[in-house]
Amino acid sequence: MLSYDLVVVGGGLAGLSAALAADPGFKVGVVSKVHPLRSHSVAAQGGINAALGNHPDGADDTWEKHAFDTIKGSDYLADQEAAELLCRRAAAAIYELDHWGAPFSRFAAGTIAQRPFGGAGFPRTCYAADRTGQVLLHTLYEQAVRRGVAFHDEWLVTDVVVRDGRLLGLVAYDLAGGGIIPLRTRAAVFATGGYGRVFLKSTNAYINLGGGIGMAYRAGVPLKDMEFVQFHPTSLYVTNSLITCAALTGLSQLNTSPYSTNILMTEGARGEGGYLANAAGRRFMEDYAPRTMELAPRDIVARSIQTEVDKGNGFEGQYVHLDLRHLGREKILKRLPGIREICLHFAGLDPVDRPIPIQPAQHYSMGGLDVDASCASRVEGFYAAGECACVSVHGANRLGGNSLLEAVVFGRIAGESASAYLRGGPAASGGDRETAEAARALNARMQAVRARDRGENVFQLLNRLKRLMSDTAGIFRDAPTLGRGLEELAELREAYRRVYIFGSCGRYCQEMVVLVEFEHMLDVAEIILLGALERRETRGSHFRADFPKRDDAAWLKHTIVTRTDKGPRIEYRDVRIGRYAPQERSY
Ligand code: FUM
Repeated sequence: MLSYDLVVVGGGLAGLSAALAADPGFKVGVVSKVHPLRSHSVAAQGGINAALGNHPDGADDTWEKHAFDTIKGSDYLADQEAAELLCRRAAAAIYELDHWGAPFSRFAAGTIAQRPFGGAGFPRTCYAADRTGQVLLHTLYEQAVRRGVAFHDEWLVTDVVVRDGRLLGLVAYDLAGGGIIPLRTRAAVFATGGYGRVFLKSTNAYINLGGGIGMAYRAGVPLKDMEFVQFHPTSLYVTNSLITCAALTGLSQLNTSPYSTNILMTEGARGEGGYLANAAGRRFMEDYAPRTMELAPRDIVARSIQTEVDKGNGFEGQYVHLDLRHLGREKILKRLPGIREICLHFAGLDPVDRPIPIQPAQHYSMGGLDVDASCASRVEGFYAAGECACVSVHGANRLGGNSLLEAVVFGRIAGESASAYLRGGPAASGGDRETAEAARALNARMQAVRARDRGENVFQLLNRLKRLMSDTAGIFRDAPTLGRGLEELAELREAYRRVYIFGSCGRYCQEMVVLVEFEHMLDVAEIILLGALERRETRGSHFRADFPKRDDAAWLKHTIVTRTDKGPRIEYRDVRIGRYAPQERSY
């Protein structure tokens, strides 16, 4: 049996940060479903926040102001001590990345460039053009390779093995070889990212199915605040006319699949001065956030766009415009080259001379595995960091630029905490029997579905799930719709029992991957719907049309959901308020 002291699951920014922070005396392995450089962190565009004070308008910025913006942006659901920890550590994290060679964009004076982002009092988002995630991921991967970190790429972790509340091991499925691998380990850091592909319209990579969150939940780690789903205001909407145009002009090897839509159009585009305009050409944000306009926090901008579209003020009942034309060619090419390239390739338009059609799409999960500020969970030896975890620093709405920061800061904390546990924890996992048994059980499950010659097609179930979640747990919610979502979900769960493998399914069997992860997606979806139905107030990203006000007296609480044999059990935990008393949020 393959044996480690610490297994990090996930090769994105949080996972690599954890692996780099782990005590070098321990045997550490990183297991990743894809090559680490294909992790979803690579898709992050606009930047990473730290109060460096490099921008001429940001000289008075401090980490305390960053913390205040983060807490206000969270609609006061963030645990304030944790948000302060994040912001206090931000500058050091950026300088470390800089010293490791991350090619940040620079101001003329040579300092790291910063741009304005939504909900921030100062321009504090450090960036590398509009490819910040990509350059940071490469930087951390180089460091990990340099230090000889062991990688198991293209292995899907399927099971977390726990006895008496302590982690014993993991089971992985080797996507290339098809084998099932039991992994003995004393500790694990989960950094498996979000669940965006539970929704139809999402900026997330196809790998973001949420399996990591679901399998840890099954193993006894509670989920926190899962009803808070971030919808990014600006994702690319690809219209039929644009597809035709791109094909005719031969601008690209156009992927005409409907999946090619909803690619992120970074908030940095608005940070650089881009406008949002409705079909009448009006900058409608003056009706919703007159002071901050396009740079209000994401929950507010996404709701404003959807309201305009729903009122009939958009185009084709679907989208509005993100207009960059006034920025000029030079600025677009320098600061937003990736956005221009995506528009050329996927929509056949050049934002230098045409506005970009955009609509909101699922982007981020504020909720996740319930961990404390040391990234420890209720299960001994099990830690989590990054988007799959909920510390909570983002509360009910995350500010743009805080997710990369959270990944590097709390990834590192998770690696340090797991190392401290290993120093004082059990000398051996002692769970070979249970881990081998879990591997055999997975093999039996796979054999059983392979043996069926008819049944449900998991890709069709996946499409039904995505549609259901987008229709019932979207930007605007109410009790009847959420209730319908739960009913339809129960039907899907039933259908999933009859799933079978219809393809040949040899090496890299995506059908098997989705099939294995789908049961976790069902749990994730259920907890989102349940939490949203129970929370009878509006806060941050969670907008209840039937309870349109924030209710601090009743709901200044985290939702904690634990799995039991009888189904999910919901409890509530008070938010940890610090020096910032909740106020009305206006922008
Ligand atoms: O819009 C963006 O570039 C996304 C940034 C983020 O989610 O932090």
